[in-house]
This record gives sequence, structure tokens and C-alpha cells, in this order.
Amino acid sequence: MDLGTVSQIIEPLASTTLELSQMPQIEPNAPVLRIIGKAPLSGHVPISGAKNSILALMAGTLLSSEGCRIRNVPNLADVERMSDILETLGVKISRTDEVLDLDTSNLTTNSAPYELVSKMRASFFALGSLLARLGSAKMPLPGGCAIGARPVELHVRGLQALGADVQIEHGIVIAHAKSRNGRLQGAKIYLDCPSVGATETLMMAATLAEGQTIIENAAQEPEVIDLADLCIAMGAQIHGAGTNTIIIDGVDRLHFADFTAIPDRIEAATFMVAAAITRSTLSMSPVVPAHLTAAISKLQDIGVTVQIDAPDKITVIGGDRYRAVDIETLPYPGFPTDMQAQFMALLTICEGNGVVTETVFENRLQHVAELNRMGANIRLKNNVAVVTGVPQLSGAPVMATDLRASAALVIAGLAADGETKVMGLHHLDRGYDRIEEKLRNVGAKLYRTIETVNA
Ligand code: EPZ
Repeated sequence: MDLGTVSQIIEPLASTTLELSQMPQIEPNAPVLRIIGKAPLSGHVPISGAKNSILALMAGTLLSSEGCRIRNVPNLADVERMSDILETLGVKISRTDEVLDLDTSNLTTNSAPYELVSKMRASFFALGSLLARLGSAKMPLPGGCAIGARPVELHVRGLQALGADVQIEHGIVIAHAKSRNGRLQGAKIYLDCPSVGATETLMMAATLAEGQTIIENAAQEPEVIDLADLCIAMGAQIHGAGTNTIIIDGVDRLHFADFTAIPDRIEAATFMVAAAITRSTLSMSPVVPAHLTAAISKLQDIGVTVQIDAPDKITVIGGDRYRAVDIETLPYPGFPTDMQAQFMALLTICEGNGVVTETVFENRLQHVAELNRMGANIRLKNNVAVVTGVPQLSGAPVMATDLRASAALVIAGLAADGETKVMGLHHLDRGYDRIEEKLRNVGAKLYRTIETVNA
């Protein structure tokens, strides 16, 4: 985007100085990731199962009393938290490597504990499956997080349309099927926005409802398709997942399924950007190239070479000169909001001005201040960031504020001159399976230490 247009978007801003009180609080004795920048990368990166699929799949297992086996499960803090929540409901879970076995035959309560749900909002998606299975469910409101308020009114209104009485008392969503037989009733539901979580909650609830449910303006993300595929493997009647209209014909019960989750497209995109920003060559698999269309297209526009070597393998070849591009996040198949922070890190060293517009979440640009501390030149106004490329980032201590921001800071540290110290690693551990090991195996110089910080 040329500078003239840029100045029309962003009035000249004082530099983004943060008041001390706004600075993220550094915990004493917290782990930090030290990254020595500019190490060239080369080799192959194994991609793990998709976090945003696994969490929904685990919620979906509640729909059947016959249990479920899920394969390709990544090692993530969020998976452990979801397991904890399911176990408080009475599910027995065993894990061998990347395989989860879930015994759902004996649910002991219909109420999930606040202290666990508040830590991992995706657990809220279990409301739909629990309500469909038991006829009643109690789920704490998940609350907001760093990137936004994360309301759930679309989930609630959809369940009401399916014949549930839903009340919210003291922060707890209390739902029960109004019909005498305790079953939900099929309905036609229109989502005001194509919410991934609402689509998944309502699709799961509808699998056991009486009659047909149509979800219009449904989310089309690959993780929605994966959940539908699990439910279908369990005996559900679902058509149209992956389009904006999903049709579910309720059945009386679902059965055991042995199911393999899709690979993590966001993890893959993160490593694609890592290759680009370090001007390296990395291959990665397994991937589903069709899930990465937006990322591949943007990288190619920037000047990065992307080769599809096999149906489940891609190679990214970094280049010498990159040109800035504009990015606007949108629901799938638009550019994914979960890739925005990582691409912004890359834009910091692209020639020209790139305009990044975050349309999905209201507060998902907190990484801007941290990237600027590494020498980036980003101007921010509301949900628009103008990134003016600089020749080189410089290492600095930075604080992660949310999951994908933490990935962006790691990526920036790989390319920066000198050492970068990334704090707030609990965000990173939520969504990336052994990212440090995977990066070290392709040549990155980084290690995790515990630092005693003088508070
Ligand atoms: C899922 O969150 C993902 N999480 C998010 O990934 C992802 O960013 C998001 O979808 C969008 O793709 C999981 O799948 C576990 P939404 P979800 O409901 O379902 C608004 C990551 O980094 N909305 O599609 O919570 C909402 O406020 C995480 O891996 C309502 O207004 O996202 C947001 O602005 C972050 N009312 C927009 O919709 C509702 O009832 C999209 O949210 C529900 C949502």
C-alpha cells in the first residue's frame, strides 16, 4: 500500500509509549525463552494434530456412551486442561503417545467446574454435547481473554432454538431440554456471525435432537469439518459441513469411533513464516495444502517460494527481498485471524507498507508494542496496523500476551540481530507442541531457562 493511502488511514501518532502500569507484569522465577537470532534454518518439521480440532473432538466424545479413540493428539497444555474437565464429568481418559482413549460410559455429573472452564474457554463447547447426551448441563461462562470479550450468546440462543431452557445464574449457564423425553428438538438456526464455537456447539447438540436442524451462516473452518466427520463416524447424520449451511438429521444414539484428527494448519503456517523470516528452506508434513491457501497465497505475494511436494507435504523457500502486502483477517476461507500475528512479524522486514486489519477479534494486536520494541516500525490505530518494513529487527526482552502473539515473538526472535528473551511462555505452551525442539532440530538457537526476576 503506498504511503499516501497509509497516511489517510493512520493519523500521525505519537510513538506508542506504554505507561508502566500498562507494561505486562513479569512474574518472578518464570521460564523464559532465549533466542539467538539469525541462525539459518534447514530441514523438515513434523506438524502435530490440530489444537482447535482436538478440543472440539474431545467435547464431541460426550455424545456417545460407547467411548471414542482419537489419534494424532498433540502434547498441549490445552489438551491436558480439556482432559481434566472431561474427567470431572466422569470420563475416563488414557493416553499413549498421540492416542487418546476416552471411556464416556459413566458420566457422573452434568456440571463442569468454573476453575477449569475459566482457564480454557474451548471447554464451553462441551455444553452442547453434554446437554444432548444428558438432557441438562451446567457450564460456567468462559469469560473473556486477552484477545477479546469472547461472548457466547450465539451458542445460548442456538440451544434455545433447539428447545432448551437456558438461564444464566451467577455466571453459570444452566440448560435443560424442555421436552418431556429430555431430547432437544431440531430447528432452523441463523448465526449472526459464522462463529466456529457456536457452529460446533450447535452441530453437536443437533446430532441427538428429534428432527432436522439447519445451521445457516455456519463457520466453514476445517476444524468444523473434522468435528462433523467424527460425529458422522459415530453415526450422526450431518451434511454440508465446510459450507455456510449445515444440515443435521437427529438420531437416537451414537456409537464408538476410532478417529484421526487433521494436522494443525496454524502450526504449519507458523513454521512457514519462520522459514520465510529467516530466509531459510523448510519442509513440513503432514499438512493439508487446501487448509493453507490463504497463507500460501500471501507468502507468494510477499516473494516467498512455496512448493507442494506431495499431497501432505510442502516446502517453503525464503527469498532475499520481500515486498509488503496487506492482510485482512476474515472467517474461513478468508485469511485466518490465528495467522495474523505471525504474518505481522514477517511484514516487519518486508519493503514498503503493509496494512493489517484485524476484523475477527477486538483486541488481537497486542504484539505490535512488543514487535516495535524489537525495532519494528508499526503504527496502530484501533484494529488497523500499518507495518513499515525495516532492514533488520534487533533482539530484546519481550512479553507474550496471548497464544499467537507468543508465536510471533518467537518468529521475530529467530530473525533478529542478537538475543531475544520471550516471557509469558504459558501462552506458547497452550498451543504449540514442542515448538522449541522442532525449531532446534532445524538449526534454531534457542533454549528455555528459569530466570529469577527481581520483582
Ligand atoms: C475459535 O474460537 C478458535 N478456538 C480460535 O483460535 C479462533 O481464533 C476462532 O475460532 C476464529 O477462527 C478454538 O477453536 C478452540 P468464534 P471461537 O466464535 O470459536 C464472536 C487460537 O489462537 N462471537 O469463531 O471462540 C467472537 O467474539 C484460538 O487457536 C460472538 O460475538 O471463535 C469473535 O469476535 C484463538 N458471539 C468472533 O465471533 C458468540 O456467541 C469469532 O469467534 C460467539 C462468537
